[in-house]
Amino acid sequence: MSRFHEPQHPDFHRLNASLAFDRRLWPQDVAQSRAHARMLAERGIIETGDRDALLAGLDSVERELRDERFPFREDDEDIHMAIERRLTEIAGPVGGRLHTARSRNDQVVTDLAMYTRERSAAARAAIASLMRELLIRAEGHIDWPMPGYTHLQRAQPVYLGHHLLAYFWMLSRDRSRFAFAEAESGRLPLGAGALAGVSFDTDRGFLARELGFSEVAPNSIDAVSGRDFILDYLGAAATCSTHLSRLGAELVLWSSAEFGFCELPDAWSSGSSIMPQKKNPDAAELLRAKAPRVVGHLAALHGVMHALPLTYNKDLQEDKEHLFDAVDTLELTLAAATGMIAGVRFDRARMREAASDELIAATDVADLLVRLGMPFREAHGVVAGLVRTAVDAGKKLSDLTDAEIAAVSDLLAEHREDFQAVLAQSSWLESKISEGGTSLARVREQIDLARAVLDEGATA
Ligand code: ARG
Repeated sequence: MSRFHEPQHPDFHRLNASLAFDRRLWPQDVAQSRAHARMLAERGIIETGDRDALLAGLDSVERELRDERFPFREDDEDIHMAIERRLTEIAGPVGGRLHTARSRNDQVVTDLAMYTRERSAAARAAIASLMRELLIRAEGHIDWPMPGYTHLQRAQPVYLGHHLLAYFWMLSRDRSRFAFAEAESGRLPLGAGALAGVSFDTDRGFLARELGFSEVAPNSIDAVSGRDFILDYLGAAATCSTHLSRLGAELVLWSSAEFGFCELPDAWSSGSSIMPQKKNPDAAELLRAKAPRVVGHLAALHGVMHALPLTYNKDLQEDKEHLFDAVDTLELTLAAATGMIAGVRFDRARMREAASDELIAATDVADLLVRLGMPFREAHGVVAGLVRTAVDAGKKLSDLTDAEIAAVSDLLAEHREDFQAVLAQSSWLESKISEGGTSLARVREQIDLARAVLDEGATA
C-alpha cells in the first residue's frame, strides 16, 4: 500500500534519488545492518531465527555488492532502500523486520560517521607517508644552500632541508586536524530513530561496540540533525589541500628553466602534444588547482547547513557529494605529492648559485652594524645606501672600495674585515642560530624533533 495516488514524476525521481552517489556507502550500510540485527535479537525484539535469516541474507547481499552483480533497480531511491529491497527478495518477508527500531535518518548518518571515521584515518596515514618522504629528502639535502624568498624575491639564504621541513610541519598539523575529525565521527547516531528515539528498549552501547564507536550520541535530535563531523573532515581537507597547493606551486616554479632548481620524476610529468622538448609539471599544477575545489565543498556544505531547521531535512542528502569528492581529491593529491617528493631531483649547483648573490646578505651586514653599536633602523638605512651604491656601480658588495663604503658609513669602513667575513656565503646561513632557524645545528635539532613527531603519530 502507498499513501499516494500518482506515481513519482520521473524528473522528481532523478532529483530525489541519491543512489548514483551513495552506493559507495554499501560496506558501512551492511555492517550497520548486521550489528542492528544482532542487537534486536540480543534485546528480544526479534527472534534469533529471524536474526540468523537476516544475517544470512545480508551475507548474500554483500557478496553481490562486492562482486558488482547486485541487481540495482531503476526505482531504487538510495543505497539503504536498495539493500533492504534486495534482502527481502533473498530472505523473504523477514527482511522487513530489519528496519524495526531504525529510521533512514539515523541509518544514513551512522553510515556517514563510519565512512568519515575511516577516511580520516586513511588521510592521517597518507599524510604520514608524505611527511616521511619530506623528512628523508630534508635529511638528504640538509646543507644545500638555496635562496629563501619573500614576495618571490630572493630574501635570505636557507638550507633546502630547512625549506622542505616547513611542509613537514604544515602536514603534521593537518594530521592533527584529521585526528580531530576522526574523534568527532566517533559518536554513534544509530538508535536515535527518526528524531525522537524509538519505542523499543534497544542497546545502543552494544551497537557502538560492534561498530567501533567510542560513545553513544547523547541526544537523538542532535544525532539525526548533525553533520558537523563532515564539516570537520572538510575543514581538515581544505587546509591540507591548500598546503599541497603551495607545494605544487613551488614545484612548478622550481622545475622551470628560469629557476632550474629541480627536475620532476617522469612518472609525474607529461609531454606536450606539439612541442617535443617539453616536460610539463601537470601533477604539480593540479595540486595547485584542486585545492579550491575542496575548499568549495567545505563552503557548500556550510551553505546547506546554514539556518537549516532541526531535525532531518532532505537538504542533508547534499552532504554526500561534497564529502565524497573531497575524499577522492584529497587522497589522490596526497599520493601525487608523495610521489613527486620521493622522486624529485634537486640541482645543487643551480640552487647554490642562486643563493650566492651577495645582496642576499644585506640583513647580515645590518646585523654587523648593530653589533658595532648602531640602532637597527639606522643600520637598515646604511645598508640600503650601500646596496644602491653597489647596484649603481654594477659591482658586488665585496668589491666596493674603502672610499665607496666610507661615503655611506665610516663605522663600516673601519670594520672592513668583518664586513668581508659577513659576505662569505656560508656565514649568512650559519649566522641564523636562533631556535627554528636555518643554521645547520638548528636544522639537525629540527630533524630530530620531526622524527619524534612522525613516530609518535604512528602509534597514536
Ligand atoms: N538518501 C537520504 C539521504 O541521503 C537518506 C535519508 C532519507 N530520509 C528521509 N527521511 N527521507 O539523506
